[in-house]
Amino acid sequence: MVLIWYTQTAFQGCIPERRNFRLIITVSRDTILPVRTYEARLTEIQLAAGEGAGGRLAAWIDCPPSAIPAAGQYVLAYAPRDPFSAVGTALFCGEASLGLKTSARGFLAVPPFPASWVPGTPLVLRGPLGRGFSLNGQRLALAALGDTVARLLPLAAQALQRSDAVTLFTNASLPALPASIEIYPLGSLPEALAWADCLAIDLPLEALPGLRLSLGLKKEDQLILPAQALVYTPIPCAGLAECGACAVPARHSRQPRTTERRTFWLACKDGPVFNLDELVW
Ligand code: FES
Repeated sequence: MVLIWYTQTAFQGCIPERRNFRLIITVSRDTILPVRTYEARLTEIQLAAGEGAGGRLAAWIDCPPSAIPAAGQYVLAYAPRDPFSAVGTALFCGEASLGLKTSARGFLAVPPFPASWVPGTPLVLRGPLGRGFSLNGQRLALAALGDTVARLLPLAAQALQRSDAVTLFTNASLPALPASIEIYPLGSLPEALAWADCLAIDLPLEALPGLRLSLGLKKEDQLILPAQALVYTPIPCAGLAECGACAVPARHSRQPRTTERRTFWLACKDGPVFNLDELVW
């Protein structure tokens, strides 16, 4: 998109006086599209069961339906009354029944979130942001290589709604899941490649170099099915300042961002879900 700006006063000293000039600024559509903000409230924190557990499993965020991030997307959340909340917290939906629930307002957010957030904390949500999952197939394989399966659950819920078969591969601890999801350890993942129509992965950025091994692929092997990965990495500015903290190594496809030294995507804007063939792994 091109904006044309006529002015006599700006850039004084750079142009001859009293002469109109035309400044053409090219901006990407992403930059100027308004991102909505919503008032929200943390209403409940679910804790891990068991003696000495004490971990936070999820937080219920009460918000309007249009603020709920789709599978793989996120919202950036700020607690306006928290002086340490200048940097937002990226919240992903971890709701296994997303799309099925009609009575409750809001969504179940996946940790981590600040320790200062307690039930009743008012929040401002910005988003939803980023690219989510866009996979189609009647046999969906899910692989969680990090310490949670939660960010994959909205995708599982969508597939179950369509009566697709869903199989989950992980070594992470599991929440209560629908009985129709088959569950296997990560070591069984290579066998899924022959069975599944498509593969959705959730992995921390640091696990990307080991992904080929997890899939049982040799260096020269190609994946034989469509696959997307949610690359989980800190997203401190969500693209507002282009800080680069969320850079993910990219292949030369779909015009990645480049500097003299590297070719990369920004997980906050270009992802956090990528087609696997767009990444270096
Ligand atoms: S988080 Fe700052 S550029 Fe992505």
